[in-house]
Amino acid sequence: MAIRKVRTVGDDVLRKKCKEVVEITNRELTLIEDMVDTMYEENGVGLAAPQVGILKRIFVIDIGDENGVMVFINPEILETSGTQCGEEGCLSVPGMAGQVTRPNYVKVKALDEDMNEVEYEGEGLLARAFCHEIDHLDGHMYTELVEGELHQVSYDEDEE
Ligand code: NI
Repeated sequence: MAIRKVRTVGDDVLRKKCKEVVEITNRELTLIEDMVDTMYEENGVGLAAPQVGILKRIFVIDIGDENGVMVFINPEILETSGTQCGEEGCLSVPGMAGQVTRPNYVKVKALDEDMNEVEYEGEGLLARAFCHEIDHLDGHMYTELVEGELHQVSYDEDEE
């Protein structure tokens, strides 16, 4: 288990386009394992490789549903429908959140760790997470899409 440092806004690596993965070696497998560990450590629902400084088209998601942890390599959006507007945040923009409109349904094609093609369908939060993480692989952040103000979030439940 290894926790990697999460890059935050202002770091150039978050603005770069990631490269397709052509081969899964121990290097990629270790990266994926570390990304999962890092996502859990930081209480995130998703993490993309550039967020740990690696420009490869890989992300992981676990929104706490029956899917558990999902690994996406070279993901591609196949289909979207509907819209949803809701709060979004990112481990690379700590303590902040903002309203973002996303499709309510998203179908994604990707490769798994054995380079087998897999397809996932998501609605609501999962659809949102697919879009958010794929954007990271193209150097985009949700902050570009925020409607209104980016605002601070408080994790202190005793505050109110
Ligand atoms: Ni993010």
